[in-house]
This record gives sequence, C-alpha cells and structure tokens, in this order.
Amino acid sequence: MTAKGELLYEGKAKKVFRTDDPDRYLVEFKDDATAFDGLKKGTIRRKGEINARLSALFFQMLSRRGIPTHFIEQTGPRQLLVRAVEIIPVEVVARNIVAGSLAKRLGLEEGTVLKRPVLEFYYKSDELHDPMINNYHIAALELATEAQIKEMETYAWKVNELLVEFLRPADLVLVDFKLEFGLHHGSILLADEISPDTCRFWDGTSGEKLDKDRFRRDLGGVEDAYEEVLRRVEKLIGENL
Ligand code: C5P
Repeated sequence: MTAKGELLYEGKAKKVFRTDDPDRYLVEFKDDATAFDGLKKGTIRRKGEINARLSALFFQMLSRRGIPTHFIEQTGPRQLLVRAVEIIPVEVVARNIVAGSLAKRLGLEEGTVLKRPVLEFYYKSDELHDPMINNYHIAALELATEAQIKEMETYAWKVNELLVEFLRPADLVLVDFKLEFGLHHGSILLADEISPDTCRFWDGTSGEKLDKDRFRRDLGGVEDAYEEVLRRVEKLIGENL
C-alpha cells in the first residue's frame, strides 16, 4: 500500500498527491468536468473511475509497445500510482479527422479525413488560455529543448499509430487527442491521462460521438458514452494487450 501524502496539485479533472516515495505520485481522477476554458462546469457520473481505468489500460498497452509512460499501477478504482514527473507545459494534439478547434480555425468541415495527420502544440497556461504555439516558441520560451520537442513529436506519432490500430477492432475511430509529457530524471515520459476527456472517439459505424463533446455540446448520454468506450476497450484487452 502506498500512503497518500500531501496534495501537490489539484486541476480540473485530477488531484496529484505525494507519497512516502519521492519518486512516486498518486493521481486521483475526479468526476468534475469543465469545458470552454472552465466556463462550463458539471459532473459526469463515474467519470473518475472510467478515466482512471481507461488511462491505465491505454498506458499499459502503449508501454508494452515501446512508449515510456509515467504509469506504474492502478491502486484504486479512481487512483493510479505514477512516476513523479515534472510536466512539460506543452500540450501535444494529434489529429486524424477535422473536429473542434481545427474546424473553426481553418473553416473545415467536421468529419473531413485529413490527407495526412496533423500535430499541434499548445502552451499550457490558464492565464493565456492555452494558446497554440510552434516549436520555435517552445525553444525560445525554453519550455523544452529542441531534442525534447523532437522526442515528443516522435512519441505522439507513434501513440497515434498504436491507438488507431488498437481501437479499430472495437469500431472506435480516433479523431484526435491531446498528450502531455513529463520529465523524470531527465527522460521524457508520456504522462497525464488518455481518456474520453482528452480524445475524440467516434463510433466507426454510426459516427456517434463517444467522448467529452457530448458534455461540451449538450448532446446528452454523456455517462453512457464514457461507459461504452470503457466496455469496448475492456473487451479488447484480453485479445490485444
Ligand atoms: O478543442 P480541440 O479541437 O483543439 O481539441 C483537440 C483534442 O485535444 C480533443 O480530443 C480534446 O479533447 C483534446 N484537448 C484536451 N485538453 C485541452 C484541449 C484539447 O484534452 N486543453
């Protein structure tokens, strides 16, 4: 049993606690949901449990396929034990299909399959509302070195490839997703979470949205969508993990 220590950080969806081991943190996933830069607030029943479980399963799948992650083990229904990383304040977004802010920014129709996938960086800053930045900004602001940027790009492309393939048999289309990375004794590890809060998943047959867009856009059936993603991914696990 790892004892939960001091609360280190509380975000919109998660709390991070120290443990008695300085090299390990406990991450607790909350049911709270926010959207539009915190303007819309709510709760999604069982979200904490579902996102903790899905993140654990995705991190395990990815680490078995060569992606270094912060994940160590799941220690409770909504709790993960992770390596203590210092989060690089850059959100890495990968996109396969046009949706969300890309549709707005470039006037593209949501659902258009991109001729080639796209990577974007955003500066993690609440005051600045997470502006989009490029690799020059990242280097100039010393958010990460050029080598670290390259490494994050390489991992993001690989994660995209692995997740798309992994989800295909579950008839889940990976539209886009956001990753965060952290530094652990100088090495880059995939961190944060991978869940319907941070990915867009569409049903491959009906096109139905099975992610946080149901909450953002008041589409109803939010809880059912999260449960459905978990049900499908758990079904894959025996076959694929
Ligand atoms: O809003 P946008 O279209 O830029 O989001 C792209 C992807 O990144 C979506 O899957 C969204 O859930 C995720 N994202 C996130 N956290 C943010 C911004 C975007 O998880 N702060």
